[in-house]
Parts: sequence; C-alpha cells; structure tokens
Amino acid sequence: MTHEPARRGSHSLDPHLHRYAARATGMTASEVRALFAVASRPEVVSLAGGMPNLAALPLDSLSAEVGELIAAEGLTALQYGSAHGVPALREHICDVMALEGITGHPDDMVVTVGSQMALDLVTRIFCDPGDVVLAEGPSYVGALGTFASYQADVVHVAMDDQGLQPEALREALAATQRAGRRVKFLYTVPTFQNPAGVTLAVSRRAEVLDICAAAGVLVVEDNPYGLLGFDGQTYPALRSMDHENVIYLGSFSKTFASGLRVGWALAPHAVREKLVLAAESAALCAPTLNQLIVSRYLETHDWKGQIKSFQQTYRERRDAMLSALEQHMPAGCTWTRPDGGFFVWLTVPEGVDTKAMQPRAVTQRVAYVPGTGFYADGFGSRQMRLSFCYPTPERITEGVRRLAGVLADEIDLLATFGPTASRLMSGPQTPSPDTE
Ligand SMILES: Cc1ncc(COP(=O)(O)O)c(C=O)c1O
Repeated sequence: MTHEPARRGSHSLDPHLHRYAARATGMTASEVRALFAVASRPEVVSLAGGMPNLAALPLDSLSAEVGELIAAEGLTALQYGSAHGVPALREHICDVMALEGITGHPDDMVVTVGSQMALDLVTRIFCDPGDVVLAEGPSYVGALGTFASYQADVVHVAMDDQGLQPEALREALAATQRAGRRVKFLYTVPTFQNPAGVTLAVSRRAEVLDICAAAGVLVVEDNPYGLLGFDGQTYPALRSMDHENVIYLGSFSKTFASGLRVGWALAPHAVREKLVLAAESAALCAPTLNQLIVSRYLETHDWKGQIKSFQQTYRERRDAMLSALEQHMPAGCTWTRPDGGFFVWLTVPEGVDTKAMQPRAVTQRVAYVPGTGFYADGFGSRQMRLSFCYPTPERITEGVRRLAGVLADEIDLLATFGPTASRLMSGPQTPSPDTE
C-alpha cells in the first residue's frame, strides 16, 4: 500500500477546504506518518509498523491453487457476489471462530474488506456525531480514525496488565451518562491487544460483559490476534459468552494474508440486516476472488499448522525483544510482556516525551510509534509501541539497543536541562490506519 506523505499544516493551500463535510475535519494524517518515509530506509530498524510476516506462506502451492481456481471457477470468482459474503467461506469462518469458543451462524456474518471495513460499518450504523464510544486506553489507531471520521467521541477506559479494568469501565459509563452523553458501544481488543500487548483476564470477561449489558451498551470485540498465542493457547472470545450484545470482528490478515483484505463481522441476529445493507452501500460486496482464495486455502491447506508456524515465528521475535529490553533499557523504563500478538508497550521515565524524541531516534536509525497516536485525547506522551512482528530477531536486538541509547541520552539531557528540551513537538495527534 502506498501512502501520501502527511500534509498537516498545508490546509491553507487546499482550495477545497470550504467544501468538505464536517466529518472530513476528523480525517487528517498522523504527524508520524511523515517519519515513516525515513523509517522505511533500509538502515533504519523499524519497530514501528504492524505488518505481518508472510515469509512462511507456501507461495508455490498458493499460486497453483489460485490458477486452478480461476480455471475452474473463473466466471464466479471474477463476478460480483452477495454483500453477505461467499456462503462456503462463511461456513469455514464458523470453524475458525470455534477455536475460541464461538458458535456462530453463517447467516449472522458479513464478510468485509478486512476487519477495518467491519469497524467502519459498525460505526456507520450505530454512531451519530457526538455519540460516545468507550475504548481501551491506549487503543488501535485505525479504530480511532474510524470513530473520528464519524464524529464519535472516544472516552478511554484504563487498562492494567490484566486488560480493561472493570471498575474504570463502570466509572467511565457513570461519568458519561451523568454528563448526558449517549454511549453507543465499548470497542475492545481483549486478546493480545494492539498496541499494549495485554490480554483481558478470563476472570474479568464476564464482568465486562455484565457491566455493558446492564448499561445497555453494545460490545464490539475486535479480535485479529486471538489465534496468535505463543504457546498455542486461546482465550474464550467475549462473543462466546454473549450472543446478543457482542458484535465480533475477525480477520485473516494476521493468520493468513493481509493483502487479500478478507475479514468479517459476526453480529447479533437483529443487527445483521443493517450490517449487510451498510456493506452493500460501502462496497457492494467484498472481492469474490479473494473470498474464494481464502475459502480454498481453508479447505486444502493445513491452516492450523500454518498458524502454529506464525506463533513460533512471533514467539522468537517477542523473546528477542524482551531479552534486548532487559539487557539494554535504562533504569525507569517499564514494558509489557505479551504472550501473543505483535506488540510491546513501553513506558519511559517522567519528563521524556516520546513524540518529541522520535526524530532523534530515526537519526539513530531506529523507529517506533509514539504513544499519543493511540489515544484520542493527547495522552500517551510517556509511552511508545514497539512491534516485533516484522524485523528479524537480530534486527530487533539491534533496534532495541539503538533505542536504549537514544533514551539514555534523552534522560541525560533532561537531568541537565529539564523537560522543555524534549517537549518541542508534543501535543495530541490524529491517528491513521496501522498499515505502515
Ligand atoms: C486491532 C486491529 N483491528 C483491526 C485491524 C485491521 O485489520 P484488517 O487487516 O483485517 O483490516 C488491525 C490491523 O492492524 C488491528 O490491529
């Protein structure tokens, strides 16, 4: 995917500025995006992007399968399909979801262009401007971008190393309701969260569902990483515990191939019709060819074995990152220890501003994502997300070593000159999708 460089600050040059709908004001590129051009230079170790590592995919057999598919079913594969999605694929997705305890019906599912589109559709059918969405703090950048584009306001709910804190959820609900605001749903990534790398404790799951059900608030469970537990472990999906109040979003982006852009939403039965209509108006249907490719892959390949191999790759990379952090990070830094997924969340000492530090890190040939991008309200200046999914273990070790050096210099600078030295670029930042 190619991205245009950030153009923030050039609005005054845009002759169409007065024409945009109000909702377009929420759509601006992240300031960090400009740095991605630099970060993608080969000499820079990027711990910033969230790209899955596809090297282990069986490309030869996949290309043969795609050729056969077009030869045998080309007139269907290259044709429009239904907004609901290819029926055989929806059946297979039920088997995938069963691994996390979900018993879904294919009729209650809509196949989408990645789970990102599912997020867009859910927000589209539920949120009016000014409605509140509750989300973990920090939360997935692409979701924050979607909520902003529908002019929904995000209220963050605190997490700890066991995930979302039920008490904080109760308080957030009470405070927003006291303020007369309408809360539409809780958006959560309960398992191997992006960006924090934490998982909602099994003992908290029913409580979170009960709190939302009692408040009349839907739960949107976004679960692209759930099958990437490093020891093959899975957690019961929220949807497996509540069929009526949870909209579940799934994806093949992290367990198969992100470029195919195949995801899905499993809705409560009553919501399903609106989702199909929204999908129709957004895209008519998800690409038939890609749906058939995924469907065939699930029929003919050892997809569970493939997921195991992904788990192993990511476990090695997580191990490399954790041991490098242990070895190199200056005192006062703390970080999460994920048991699945792609990300570690690093907290730096008081006074260090990760966004202001980013250009200095890139100069030292290492990139990360500053924490402010994962909050809708400007928090996160002492945090950063480090991803271990894409670089090799050796590059990860080298990247963390470089980052630790930058942080040590920053801490020295602070001790000498005080916090103003590193705050030149601080402030809230608008999120953008997590594809760089
Ligand atoms: C939490 C989360 N949700 C959704 C997505 C979007 O995934 P997809 O490729 O299925 O659109 C991502 C991608 O990084 C993600 O991390």
